[in-house]
Formats: sequence, C-alpha cells, structure tokens
Amino acid sequence: MIDNEVLKAIRERKMVFKFKDEPLKEDQINAVLQAGYWSESFGNCEPWQFIVVDEKETKEKLYELTKRVTIYTAGIKNAPVTIAIAITGCGTSHYIEEGAVAAHNMALSAHSIGLGAYWLDVYDIENRKNSVEADAKRLLGLPEEMRLTYFLPLGIPDQRREQTIARLDDMIHYNKFGNA
Ligand SMILES: Cc1cc2nc3c(=O)[nH]c(=O)nc-3n(C[C@H](O)[C@H](O)[C@H](O)COP(=O)(O)O)c2cc1C
Repeated sequence: MIDNEVLKAIRERKMVFKFKDEPLKEDQINAVLQAGYWSESFGNCEPWQFIVVDEKETKEKLYELTKRVTIYTAGIKNAPVTIAIAITGCGTSHYIEEGAVAAHNMALSAHSIGLGAYWLDVYDIENRKNSVEADAKRLLGLPEEMRLTYFLPLGIPDQRREQTIARLDDMIHYNKFGNA
C-alpha cells in the first residue's frame, strides 16, 4: 500500500476539543495560517481573511456567543488561540466551501506539528442580522459584506479521542452505486 507523511497525517488527525493551558509560539501559529493561505479557492479567488484571537476577553465573548449554536464551545475559551476564518474577495457564493477547505488544511497542518484544533460552524445560511455570525462579525470588526464561516480553536492537545470509523469498502462503488 502506498503511504507517506501526508497520508499518515490525514489518517491520524482527530479533532481536539481540550487544550493545555500553554501559550503557542508565533511560528506554530504562522505554520497553521500558512496552511490556510495555501488552500484552493473558486476561480483562484483567494478570499480568506484570518483573525487570530488571543485576547482573553474576546475569547470569552466568542464563547458566550457560540453557545447559541453548538455545545462544544469550551474550546474557544480554553484554547490559547482561536482563528476566525472570514471570506471576502471576488464573490462569496462559495463561502462555506472556501472556509471549509482552509479550516481543514489548518486543522491537518496543526496535527502535523503536534497541535490540535477543531472547527466550529458559525455561518448563518440566511445571513440574518441577529445571527451568531452577525454578532461575531460585529465583535471582531468585520465589514458587513464579509462572511464569517468557522472558528478554529487551536492549541496543544490535552486529549486523545478514539472513535470507530465506518468501513471504506462500504463507501466505494465502481461505475454504479451498489457495485462492489
Ligand atoms: C464541516 C464540519 C463542521 C464541523 N462543525 C463542528 C462544530 O460546529 N462543532 C463541533 O464541535 N465540531 C464540529 N466538527 C467536528 C466534527 O464533529 C468531527 O470532525 C467528527 O466528529 C469526526 O471526528 P474527527 O474529525 O476527530 O475524526 C465539524 C467538522 C466538519 C468537517
């Protein structure tokens, strides 16, 4: 079977929800930001804006806000850094995918350098004025036309999650669904 470091990192990455109370080094954060920056985008739009949140007070406020949309929010408060992934540029019709591609590259690269991360959905499909996305945008000073897609709490893992995974053979079909 073909194997290499990239495949190994993909296989071994798990979302991390609990972090050690230790600060990150600048070059660790930069490595993760680079991974977001090198992502693919629709029409090579390169639509990302990354807001690195490390102020305790802002993290607390984001934690309070995101409690409205998901239960696994504590990471925002506990992680030394949370990166907000915003989308702008030549059109925002693919904002969810473009945020997701960057979030995944960043989570994977975090794992590859011994850090942990998870993503937390914040976008509101209907882009409502009273949504968590809108409130978080105001808090972070993002312009109205931008979309805020995901938060990525990032830090040194304080857990190792195990999880059963579906069989790959059950997901593959040749030429027609159902053909094993
Ligand atoms: C598109 C996407 C959105 C996600 N959103 C959230 C979220 O809002 N909150 C959360 O706690 N985890 C979120 N996750 C993490 C998933 O729960 C996690 O990937 C899944 O349980 C599989 O675990 P693993 O990534 O460790 O293999 C998201 C993952 C993906 C791919």
